[in-house]
Amino acid sequence: MNINVAKASWTQAALAAAPFEVERVGRSLGAEIHGLDLKKGLDERSFRGLEAALIENKVIYLRDQHLTTAQHVEISRWFGALEVHPFRPEGEFPEIMVLDNHKDNPVLSTDVWHSDTTFRATPTKYTILRSQIIPRTGGDTLWCDMEAAYNGLSETFRAMIGGLKARHDFQNFRVLFTRSDEDQKRLRRMEELYPNPVHPLVRTHPVTGAKCIYVNPQFTIGVEGLHKDESDVLLKLLFEQVHVPEYQFRFRWTEGAIVFWDNQSTQHYAANDYYPDRRRMERTAVCGDAPV
Ligand SMILES: [Fe+2]
Repeated sequence: MNINVAKASWTQAALAAAPFEVERVGRSLGAEIHGLDLKKGLDERSFRGLEAALIENKVIYLRDQHLTTAQHVEISRWFGALEVHPFRPEGEFPEIMVLDNHKDNPVLSTDVWHSDTTFRATPTKYTILRSQIIPRTGGDTLWCDMEAAYNGLSETFRAMIGGLKARHDFQNFRVLFTRSDEDQKRLRRMEELYPNPVHPLVRTHPVTGAKCIYVNPQFTIGVEGLHKDESDVLLKLLFEQVHVPEYQFRFRWTEGAIVFWDNQSTQHYAANDYYPDRRRMERTAVCGDAPV
């Protein structure tokens, strides 16, 4: 039996046994979960169903959950070990990253398409984001289905990029470090922690076996083995695929919603269009594996 069929079949079984409904909302990706109260916590059956729904739909959400931070962390732990974000750990829960943006604290680079932390050798597997304060208008999150984007390329082009690898860097976050001695020391520690990993241009999803484009304009700095001008042209073409509306899913937040997404098969972008209103979110991230 094909190993991917065997692996993927657990998701169908888990979905069939799930004690909730999954409503597909986006054509290519995105589904709403109905009939599950996360405040009551998860059990083995609901967790397996939720992870299966996440893998199959790439982005899933539940509205009107209004979880506490502790409940958010507890739910997240079912999905695996949680990351402590290297840039902005704060508060009582080190696994929580607070995203609190308004006119006096604009976003830092969340409005550039990316898959989370590909500057790590083992980038984030799943991200789980909960809304607390939502602007009157704007502040949507958009995702792109990188499997659909890959399948949209010609067979010849797919064959050309199949074996290529690209280097990644936390480049846009470097502005967080000032010229002070202390900050420069922290920056050097960051560089030691995350020394420019090389990932395949095309990643194979560990469960579904689907091939997905795995370069992004936020963190990918160059294709290995190409001249800079060659690399620039190739990356530009691959980066542009996220702009195809047919591959996208756009989510209008409501307070108390929670969204889970699979960074292995998607990229995302937070629309930066709501100031002076405030948008406050809390985020957890599940540790992933080295992409293959
Ligand atoms: Fe992100």
